[in-house]
Order: sequence, then structure tokens, then C-alpha cells
Amino acid sequence: MGFWFSSLLCFLFHYNFCTTSAELITALPGQPTNVSFKQHSGYINVTDAHHGSTRALFYYFVQAQSPDPVSLPLTLWLNGGPGCSSLGFGAFMEHGPFQPGQNGILLRNKYSWNLESNMLYVESPIGVGFSYSNTSSDYILWNDTRTAEDNLRFIVKWLEEFPQYKDSDFFLTGESYAGHYIPQLASLLMEYNKQPNIIRPIKLKAIALGNPLLDLDISLLSGEYLWSHGAISDETLRLEKKVCNDSKYLRELIHKQRSQECNNVFKRVSDEVGDDIDWSDLLLPLCLPASFTQQFKAMGKHGEIHAKMARRGIQVGDPCLGDRILNYLNQPQVQKALHANTTHLPYHWDFCSGPLVYQDDSFEINIIPLISNLIMQGIPVLLYSGDQDTKIPLTQTRIIANILAKELKLVPFTTYANWYDKNQVGGWSQSFGRLRDGKNVTYLTFATVRGAAHEVPFTSPSQALTLFRSFLAGSPLPRPN
Ligand SMILES: *[C@@H]1O[C@H](CO)[C@@H](O)[C@H](O)[C@H]1NC(C)=O
Ligand SMILES: *[C@@H]1O[C@H](CO)[C@@H](O)[C@H](O)[C@H]1NC(C)=O
Ligand SMILES: *[C@@H]1O[C@H](CO)[C@@H](O)[C@H](O)[C@H]1NC(C)=O
Ligand SMILES: *[C@@H]1O[C@H](CO)[C@@H](O)[C@H](O)[C@H]1NC(C)=O
Ligand SMILES: *[C@@H]1O[C@H](CO)[C@@H](O)[C@H](O)[C@H]1NC(C)=O
Ligand SMILES: *[C@@H]1O[C@H](CO)[C@@H](O)[C@H](O)[C@H]1NC(C)=O
Ligand SMILES: *[C@@H]1O[C@H](CO)[C@@H](O)[C@H](O)[C@H]1NC(C)=O
Repeated sequence: MGFWFSSLLCFLFHYNFCTTSAELITALPGQPTNVSFKQHSGYINVTDAHHGSTRALFYYFVQAQSPDPVSLPLTLWLNGGPGCSSLGFGAFMEHGPFQPGQNGILLRNKYSWNLESNMLYVESPIGVGFSYSNTSSDYILWNDTRTAEDNLRFIVKWLEEFPQYKDSDFFLTGESYAGHYIPQLASLLMEYNKQPNIIRPIKLKAIALGNPLLDLDISLLSGEYLWSHGAISDETLRLEKKVCNDSKYLRELIHKQRSQECNNVFKRVSDEVGDDIDWSDLLLPLCLPASFTQQFKAMGKHGEIHAKMARRGIQVGDPCLGDRILNYLNQPQVQKALHANTTHLPYHWDFCSGPLVYQDDSFEINIIPLISNLIMQGIPVLLYSGDQDTKIPLTQTRIIANILAKELKLVPFTTYANWYDKNQVGGWSQSFGRLRDGKNVTYLTFATVRGAAHEVPFTSPSQALTLFRSFLAGSPLPRPN
């Protein structure tokens, strides 16, 4: 289509088609040939009058795999940190349509969440991944309030550029420290919708939080979990209970008042767990250097067959995937295809280690009251937990789900029992709710995901897709017949 012709079409019919076409991804380097859905990415400027600065937030938007994508919901996803990238983790490691394979080839993810929803990944806040500010003072002492405000500004502006999604059912989802981001953003969005000049409120339907940090004094206590998995000794557990637990230790770190007794206990913990364990997943093997794995590689005809298989599919929970993502997203031609890093940022793209300084005391904000409040305003909440995570173990998220159910006088609609992904147990779950307009409505679901890491879809992609589907539909997780 010639330029003048497309401009004419824009003018005559659908000006939106024109404003967004600039950020359309023609093709990502190495992507498979017959991709049926559109991808967009680029920057949205958010202006903060109060601090007098304009910041550029980077997004990656993956249209739903459907003949009529606009009829499917819109889901925004955030990773945590604070300071970790939703593009690197969420999109390329967890539930996006592609994952980098060997030799810069992108492999299709059969369990991509865009089978069910349009997916919007945002690198938030500034200083994360490709998102940036030109105002250097923005990078010092950033906090949750500012993250939530910028994310709301982002959503409002993004919907101006993609107005076909203004009436879509909208879902807010995220993981880990996004247990802070998402409920704060949801609350701000509810306030925004209440303003008298808002004609088309954003249709927030529900929120989902994976292995979320909600309350420092509960979420991060991992002693019992590590002990029951044989990763720390009886004596160390005893010391965690008597001398110093994770929350005490973290509060000391935050307030820069480290005590010798806490240091001693947590030195024992890290010595016993060991350096070769990924705290995100007790079961995950290490990514060993190529020379090491080479020894075990099949040779000759067998080798060829293995290589073919490897090209065809994703190896679930591949511990080397992270390295390939890091490599992929730092390639200039990939950044060009993504319309990213247009201002030549003076550091490389990384999962978590950007230049932002986050206010430490943000960790101490207790998010449970905020979630209570969202449920009271009619927003259902899913709390799910990869059951191999030691950073925020399932036992702790379950305690919080039970606190919420009790506090809000929600009734259990199901017994605590296993849910199914196809014919296998996907994990355990329980739903709680109450009557609304004569009908039982589920407001709170707790679900574990079997065999899953802190980043659930990374290691349990099929289970995660089943969970996501139920979440969007507001229906209970599949149970055996
Ligand atoms: C191309 O897309 C079709 C329909 O989605 C699919 O069945 C087919 O396997 C794809 N081909 C390749 C080479 O991926
Ligand atoms: C963002 O704002 C800057 C400065 O005003 C401008 O140069 C840039 O083109 C804007 N970018 C977008 C994507 O609107
Ligand atoms: C930041 O500065 C660069 C270089 O002057 C400019 O191209 C870009 O648009 C600016 N971005 C924002 C968000 O102001
Ligand atoms: C975050 O910082 C802003 C301005 O710097 C301040 O107004 C706000 O109260 C802070 N929020 C928290 C939770 O500390
Ligand atoms: C963790 O330690 C703090 C400080 O000693 C204590 O107040 C708190 O009750 C402990 N938490 C648990 C769950 O034992
Ligand atoms: C941005 O591009 C420059 C080269 O122009 C490169 O050196 C830098 O690593 C890139 N930064 C990011 C965050 O991708
Ligand atoms: C709602 O659920 C409760 C608890 O399972 C049950 O006792 C009640 O009959 C249900 N009410 C309706 C209207 O379905």
C-alpha cells in the first residue's frame, strides 16, 4: 500500500489505524513465518505536571490469536522487582507468543496467553528495560505511588492510541512485587473511573497476582517451606523462629540497622541452601556452560534427530532461556524491530538491574487492606502460587487468602482440593465469595500451581494457561468429574 493511499484511507475511514500503524512490528528477527496476530511496541509518553517531567514507558502489545481480537479481553501484565522487566520475564520467558531458541530463532509458545486475551506488557517504572526519563532526578527515590500514577497515565494514553480496546473487559495481572503494583494501580483506576468527567470508564473486571509480595511480615517468611523441603536444618529453622526470621532481617536491611544475630542466622540459611539453587524454583537445574552439556550430546544420526526436535519445540523450564533472552533483546536489529531504545540509552537492556533507585521502605507497605477494599468494591481477586518458589512460598500466600476470606466474611464455595489441567492435577485451590443480587459470586480464589517456579508459566505453561482461562471467565478451576 503506497503512502499517499494509506494516508487517504486514514483520512477517509479510520484515523486510529494510522496513529497506531507507526508502532506495528513488521516482524521480530527470527520469528516464525506464518504469524496470524499483530504485534505492536514502542513508547508512550506520560507527563507528570507535578514533577514537571515527561517519561517514556515502553510497551509490547500482542493481539489475541482470534479472527476478531477486539472481542476478546485486554490484559495488562507487570513483573515485579521492583525494577524487573515485563518484556524479558512476562513476554519472553512466561506467557508471550515466542521464546528465543538457539541461534536467534524465535520458537512458538503453544501456551501463549494471547490465545485467550490481548496482552499488554509494560516495562514499568522508568529505568526498567527500555523505559526511561530524560530527567535525571526521576531516577532517585522512586516509589510505589509514582509507579501507580505513571501506570494509570500510561493506560489512559495507550487507550487513546488503541481506542478499539476502550470498551474491552480489562484485567490487571502481575507477579511478585507486582503484588504491590497491581492493587495500587487498580485502586487508582477505580478512583479515576469515579471522576464526573469520565464518560467511558475503564472496565476493570478482575485482578490476578502470582507469588505476590503483599505483606512483608507474612509473604517472605520461607523458613518452614525450606525446612519441609529439606533445604535447611532443624537447627536453622529453630534459629529463624527464636532469633531472627525473614521479616526481621529484611526490616533491618531496609533501615540499615543490620544486627549480628540476624546476619548469622541468614548466613546459615544461605550456606545450607547453597549457591547452586535458584530461589525461584527449588527443582530448577542450573544452566551449565555449553562445553559441559556437549559431553552428553547425542552424536551422528541421533544428534540430528535431537537437533530437529530442539528446533521444533520449547524445552519447558529451560534454565538457559534467560541467557538467550538477554542476548536477543540486546541485539540492535531486535531493538529496531521493537522501536525500542530510540534514544540510545547509555546502559544495556537487562532483566532487573536498571539505573532506578527505588525507595526501600516501599517494601513495608501492607497491601492486604488494599485488596480487601478492591474486593469490597466488587473486584474479584485471584492469588496463585508456583509451589516450588522459596521467595514467596505458597504457604504464605495461603495464609493471606485465609485472612482476607475471614475478614471479609466470604464463604468457601469449594472445598480445598485439587484442580485439573487436562487429565493431570494442576495444583490445589479454594474459592470464596458471597451473594450479590441473589447470585453467588466468587471474589477470592487461592490456587497453587504444581511444579511451578516463582514465574509460574515459565515452568508450568499448560497449567498456567488453564488457570488464566478460568480467571478471565470468572469460572471455577476445572475439577475432576
Ligand atoms: C502456520 O499456521 C497454521 C495455522 O495457525 C498452523 O496450523 C501451521 O502449523 C503453521 N505452520 C508453521 C510452519 O508453523
Ligand atoms: C515524547 O515526547 C518527546 C519530547 O516532547 C518527543 O520528542 C517524542 O516524540 C514523544 N514520543 C512519543 C512516542 O510520543
Ligand atoms: C529524551 O531526549 C531525547 C534526545 O533529546 C529525545 O529524542 C526524546 O524524545 C526525549 N524523550 C522524552 C520522553 O522526552
Ligand atoms: C512517593 O513520592 C512522592 C513524591 O516524591 C510522595 O508525594 C509520596 O507520598 C511518596 N509515596 C510514598 C508511599 O512514600
Ligand atoms: C518474626 O519476627 C518478628 C520480630 O522478632 C516477630 O515479631 C514476628 O512475630 C515473627 N513472625 C513470625 C511469623 O514468627
Ligand atoms: C541502547 O543502544 C545503545 C547503542 O545505541 C546501546 O549501547 C545500549 O546498550 C542500548 N541500551 C538498551 C537499554 O538497550
Ligand atoms: C451460595 O453458596 C453457598 C455456599 O456454598 C450455598 O449454601 C448457597 O446455597 C448458595 N446460594 C445460591 C443462591 O446459589
